Amino acid sequence: MNVRAVTTPWQSAEADWLIVFVPEGADFLGSLADFDKASGGRLTRLKEAGDLTGKQAELLAIRDAQPLPAKRVLLAGIGKPAEFTPQRFERACLTAVRSVSEKKFPNVAIAAPVVEGTSASITDLVQIIATAAAVGSTGQGIYKAEPSRFPIENLTILVPSSGDGTRVEAAARRGQILGEAMNITRELVNRPAADIYPETFAQRAKELAQDFGLFCGVYDESWLKEQKMGALMAVGQGSQRPPRFVVLEYQGAGDDASWLALVGKGVTFDSGGLSLKPTDGMLTMKCDMAGAATVLGAMTAIARLKLPVNVAGYMGLVENMVSGNSYKLGDVLTARTGTTIEINNTDAEGRLVLADVLSYAVDEGAESIIDLATLTGACVVALGEDIVGAFSNNQPWCDKVLAGSKRAGEEIWQMPMHDAFNDLLKSDVADVKNTGGRPGGSITAAKFLEKFVDKKPWVHLDIAGPAFASSAKAHREGGGSGVMLRTLVEVAAHFGK
Ligand code: BES
Ligand code: MN
Ligand code: ZN
Repeated sequence: MNVRAVTTPWQSAEADWLIVFVPEGADFLGSLADFDKASGGRLTRLKEAGDLTGKQAELLAIRDAQPLPAKRVLLAGIGKPAEFTPQRFERACLTAVRSVSEKKFPNVAIAAPVVEGTSASITDLVQIIATAAAVGSTGQGIYKAEPSRFPIENLTILVPSSGDGTRVEAAARRGQILGEAMNITRELVNRPAADIYPETFAQRAKELAQDFGLFCGVYDESWLKEQKMGALMAVGQGSQRPPRFVVLEYQGAGDDASWLALVGKGVTFDSGGLSLKPTDGMLTMKCDMAGAATVLGAMTAIARLKLPVNVAGYMGLVENMVSGNSYKLGDVLTARTGTTIEINNTDAEGRLVLADVLSYAVDEGAESIIDLATLTGACVVALGEDIVGAFSNNQPWCDKVLAGSKRAGEEIWQMPMHDAFNDLLKSDVADVKNTGGRPGGSITAAKFLEKFVDKKPWVHLDIAGPAFASSAKAHREGGGSGVMLRTLVEVAAHFGK
């Protein structure tokens, strides 16, 4: 996608579609008033007829846009100015972009709205527009002969002339980079397990690292054995596809500056293993590598944005399958740390993979850690499909991650981590067992992970709900979402400050 931000007034912008935002209730101001006048009161008539209300995400297409040079205009409601938030604006943008990308219209212009009384700056709005254009016009129909969605090729963002040119350009580029990174993550999540398995995921990581100037190490089974990653290897041993471990490094600060570690669960397919999932539960389990895909996408964005920080990404890639070689219930695994784990459910595999990846990140000298995982159905029960659960051993670090998510406009809710939950993980035969039963299932999973971070500042983000949507909504496609990628980039941008 080519993106430019220009101060051309939208009345003179040429495009296949011109998207203009309309506030609810207010009189037509500025350019809207000009257009109304130039078109002989067309907007006023539409408003009087009740077709144009400006209600949040309401769309009205004008296919013959004379006297404008744009071929078509899409009027998109952004609700009452008093209720305006960046998140609501993003939804309106996404809804509008999704509507104009159902057919092949390569040239789209979007006018940044002027909203009275909002604290959102013009650069915030421009960034949101660029990200929404990239994400909203990219679909999950990767394997369709007839595409059902067409990426915008040329995006023109129209900004009021008062804006500071270079800052607006930078915001447009930032928004584009974030949107493209989310699309990398989404595509990896949307591709089925026959295409994306540990080796091909690692291959993709290598290619992207090359494109964007990241160090990338890919490690195979002999290395995993040397590392004594017994928990990760056990999960992968039932599969024909060998596991992989991927390290990405981006050094944007000095050798003496500390490292932020991003850790991702990369279960490329989760059948549940011998604790086999039923069809309904297994149906979407190609998404179980979303944590790793988000780390990979975020690393590309961090590199392209040249953030002045040191960030390492660690991804544990395995397929959880059923065979004569699968790990079994009652098995006792020895994790990389030496901790012994009794298996009472082979479907609680993500925490086993993360146990070994987290301990590796700790030993590599990470100062602070964030892990991302589609870890528990229990988290979806607790928080629903749109909110990410956060679990931490360190409140100041967790506060930084929560602050990053606020700036990124993504929703996280912090969950409790009381010591009592550890009792549920006690085993009669080993140091710990891998599940704690149904009550507090997302918390016992986090308490399990906590045992492998050696008290380093750590936040675990359970993205099981929001990482993958089984159906579409007006403002988003079904499939992979790229959730938390922007939060990671925000946290990285402020790391060490
Ligand atoms: N990958 C699943 C969790 C999941 C569920 C992700 C729904 C996305 C949507 C995970 O490996 C799993 O199976 N967890 C079990 C844990 C249980 C056996 C303790 C679960 O949530 O049922
Ligand atoms: Mn599972
Ligand atoms: Zn899983």
